[in-house]
Amino acid sequence: MSTTFKLNGNPTTLDADPTMPLLWAIREVAGLHGTKFGCGMALCGACTVHLDGQAIRSCVMPLSAVAGREVTTIEGLQSGPAKAVQAAWIELQVPQCGYCQSGQVMSATALLEKNPSPTDSDIDGAMSGNICRCATYSRIRAAIHAAAQSIKA
Ligand code: FES
Ligand code: FES
Repeated sequence: MSTTFKLNGNPTTLDADPTMPLLWAIREVAGLHGTKFGCGMALCGACTVHLDGQAIRSCVMPLSAVAGREVTTIEGLQSGPAKAVQAAWIELQVPQCGYCQSGQVMSATALLEKNPSPTDSDIDGAMSGNICRCATYSRIRAAIHAAAQSIKA
């Protein structure tokens, strides 16, 4: 059975079991490997993608749930806030091992697309579901503030 949706701006039809987690469909069927598997239980945020602009955990979302909708992965981030986040991540050298970072960038971008001037507590709230075993949290927070500043400028 096939599911049709927009993936990174492109109309896409994936021929796969509709109960397959979106994460597997993205990685194994669409061949986009930037979105990572961490826990498979919506506990770590490594698999975060955008569904109609909202940050969601693709490991617990069945492929059938995205039919007719718009999915963006780390490979397809294009918005102004997304570019500001990516630039700040590089400038502040946020990643350590890097495994969690595509999920971190997706959550940070979704936050700034809704709230271009987040407070520390807004950031903590939006990022609390994204775990980093390397504990890069202080650099993540600083980079989100830097991205917000650059969006304002
Ligand atoms: S792999 Fe989806 S939240 Fe951990
Ligand atoms: S940078 Fe290593 S898990 Fe986050």
